[in-house]
Amino acid sequence: MNRLPTTILFLLALGTSTVAVPDPICSGLCTGTIRDPAVLRRDDGTWLRFTTEGNLRIATAPSISGPWTSNTGEAGAMLPGGSIIDLDPDQRLWAPNVFFSNGQFYCHYSVSTIGSQNSAIGVATSVTGEPGNWTDHGSIGLPADTRYNRIDANFFRECDTCTPYLNFGSAWEHLFQTTLTSDLLKWSGEAPVHIARNTSFPSVPQTYPSIMEGAFMWWLPNVNGHKYFYLFFSSGACCNTPQSEEGLEAPGDEYKIMVCRGESVTGPFTDKDGRNCLTENGGSLVLGSHGDVYAPGGQGLAHDPDADRVALYYMYVNKADGTYNDFRFGFNWLDFSSGWPEVVE
Ligand SMILES: *[C@@H]1O[C@H](CO)[C@@H](O)[C@H](O)[C@H]1NC(C)=O
Ligand SMILES: *[C@@H]1O[C@H](CO)[C@@H](O)[C@H](O)[C@H]1NC(C)=O
Repeated sequence: MNRLPTTILFLLALGTSTVAVPDPICSGLCTGTIRDPAVLRRDDGTWLRFTTEGNLRIATAPSISGPWTSNTGEAGAMLPGGSIIDLDPDQRLWAPNVFFSNGQFYCHYSVSTIGSQNSAIGVATSVTGEPGNWTDHGSIGLPADTRYNRIDANFFRECDTCTPYLNFGSAWEHLFQTTLTSDLLKWSGEAPVHIARNTSFPSVPQTYPSIMEGAFMWWLPNVNGHKYFYLFFSSGACCNTPQSEEGLEAPGDEYKIMVCRGESVTGPFTDKDGRNCLTENGGSLVLGSHGDVYAPGGQGLAHDPDADRVALYYMYVNKADGTYNDFRFGFNWLDFSSGWPEVVE
């Protein structure tokens, strides 16, 4: 049997680790403050993209690659008049999380003001997913707690009859998990459980630049004989600009996409090095800044049945435009064959 000398194997290993990270894929409407995307394909093949700005703007495309188009203003909004939740005159709608179940789309969204725990998670439903077709059901009724902020909802369940989980949380003590009622419109009453935290970040408000937030759960029934639950999240400073008071974050402290993995939906979750993601500040990098791509985050995953591949979609800033405040949308394909998600194209 021919064997390559160890030195050559070593060089080959070095070679693969320096392969350039691919650029974000997107065509059509990909710029113009597109934050916290949620993307999925409707049964008829149309892709839908929901984002924070414009009372949860909805764009559509024939493929996840685009070209994305949307109406502006009220004609493009999920909730043109805002939410029926009434918290604060300055409240905003944030971070849509959308899935299809029992013949309709559900969107769990957040209502909040920057840096406050005066927040709520609400839910709206629609048969078509199009603007103008949504019914707002208001707050799910999750109670307040000093440890968490009720934003960045992420619905997850393994099957249509399985327990409906809701992951959520941001600043303060980061990520929590609870369950919903079977109609998916209300909190079940089960006390939220802490699932991930980075104690290197002080337990302070959203205004602290570096936080762990934006949970997104994905599962695979069989990766090399294991069933895995992947807890993706964003870590770092999402939104500093050179013009902001603090200026840009120190390189490496800006937003990035990380992942932890567990063999149960409720955890425990650990990273590639085996560090616990609740008690040992665990988390493995999936996608960070590279080239002109700065601070990717606000991510989610979608299976594309045409390509039979899983996409990691996210928002990011293009360094080249200099302002650092035009959030763009893009995605890359993931490969899970090693047991951990790798951005491959
Ligand atoms: C949404 O569209 C469906 C199908 O056209 C219709 O039956 C339903 O009444 C619409 N709902 C709203 C809230 O507009
Ligand atoms: C935890 O915080 C430290 C310090 O800011 C940071 O370097 C690290 O990447 C963070 N890890 C996670 C998993 O968020």
